[in-house]
Amino acid sequence: MGRKILLEKINIPGIKTYEVYRQNGGYASVEKAFKMTPDEITEEVKTSGLRGRGGAGFPVGMKWSFIDKKSGKPRHLVCNADESEPGTFKDRYLMEYIPHLLIEGMITSSYALGANLSYIYIRGEYMWVFKTLERAIKEAYAAGWLGKNIQGSGYDLDLHVHCGAGAYICGEETALIESLEGKRGNPRIKPPFPAVSGLWQNPTVVNNVESIAAVPWIVMNTGAEYAKIGIERSTGTKLISASGHIKNPGVYEIELGVSVEEFINSDEYCGGMIDDRPLKALVPGGSSVPILPAHLIYKTAAGNDRLMTYESLSDGGFATGSMLGSGGFIVYNDTTCIVRNTWNFSRFYHHESCGQCTPCREGTGWLEKVLHRIENGHGREEDIELLLSIQSKIEGNTICPLGDAASWPVAAAIRHFREEFEYHIRFPEKIKNRDHFVNEP
Ligand code: NAI
Ligand code: SF4
Repeated sequence: MGRKILLEKINIPGIKTYEVYRQNGGYASVEKAFKMTPDEITEEVKTSGLRGRGGAGFPVGMKWSFIDKKSGKPRHLVCNADESEPGTFKDRYLMEYIPHLLIEGMITSSYALGANLSYIYIRGEYMWVFKTLERAIKEAYAAGWLGKNIQGSGYDLDLHVHCGAGAYICGEETALIESLEGKRGNPRIKPPFPAVSGLWQNPTVVNNVESIAAVPWIVMNTGAEYAKIGIERSTGTKLISASGHIKNPGVYEIELGVSVEEFINSDEYCGGMIDDRPLKALVPGGSSVPILPAHLIYKTAAGNDRLMTYESLSDGGFATGSMLGSGGFIVYNDTTCIVRNTWNFSRFYHHESCGQCTPCREGTGWLEKVLHRIENGHGREEDIELLLSIQSKIEGNTICPLGDAASWPVAAAIRHFREEFEYHIRFPEKIKNRDHFVNEP
């Protein structure tokens, strides 16, 4: 059994409630943190090597050290719980089943950052989880872990949970901040980064749920101990949301460094492919990352074992690699139509584009339109080149990463499954009666 840090206590009956959580060692990291200086906590997090678990993998301790402490302005910690990346449902699991772990992490992290007003921004579709968090926050206030002079420490913290309204783009940190300020969730141009000018132009750290939930363990056990888990620059554990054609879909905590082959096939995790059908493709880190074809899933192009780490999953760059991303691990068997899957993702990004920049607003629409006609048997000879041309004009030319996220999957799908797109264009009559490209020449 792999090491468990975040999900260690998840099966304890009643762990959702304050009493049971506290009886099982909950909030001890806050007590320990109050005996440390904020800078000491930041150093521990830096030493741990913890990287942002929302998708970008930016070192958490480094981000904390960027926060502007000299301006004298109020500082904020904002937890990004707007989990919306297709294939990603790990933060929901944590918040739903062990909400006090996030609250404990918010208090310890806010103390380290010198923040007295912090927020959890949760996606609108997670309304029942929003209510769970509200209840847990109320319990934490009642027990003296939030509010004025927490546990006699002299430290004050108010924590609010704010519900989004269903826009994917509000998971982008600056759009999230705009939304929290009561405005339309349009991403801002960076720099300035939120660490310098964030919520109400105050220095703000935006961290993912899973990142914040790892902080209590790091404070209790030290950053050095955390850094011993995992391999290379991928330290610690990671929650993976596994879905698709596997026997056991669900949320798993892995020690970073497990091989992809073991993760897919072992009974501890995905349990192998449904009906033992062949593996065709994998999206390892949520819909925004490049798809991998079967021959690049268990081995990298260089012939090394493909591991569940930031480095190994991106080995080979975009030509032959992908990304760990948010850990939204989608497994496809040989019955999958890659064109349909790519169109489905494109439809999502077009719908979710905020429309601020022309390449994204117009380009995502064109991608969807061209993919839709190929998928429905109306593709034209020139459409594959047209798709590549559109995606290259979006990539790198937009304010926020949604543009890249919309274009990378299209480029990767064509790179690895071009013959499937060609088949759709050449045999429209087969496509029209839904006889898709499934293991056909
Ligand atoms: P990013 O690479 O632009 O930034 C990462 C973080 O580091 C940000 O918080 C940023 O403020 C900070 N940062 C970077 N350079 C900095 C500097 N010089 N000074 C101060 N702070 C700095 O990536 P971003 O936009 O935060 O996230 C993109 C990723 O999010 C994608 O890779 C995708 O996998 C993931 N994603 C996850 C979703 C989910 O539901 N979990 C939804 C959509 C995307
Ligand atoms: Fe909006 Fe797309 Fe531009 Fe991001 S890339 S700011 S979602 S239009």
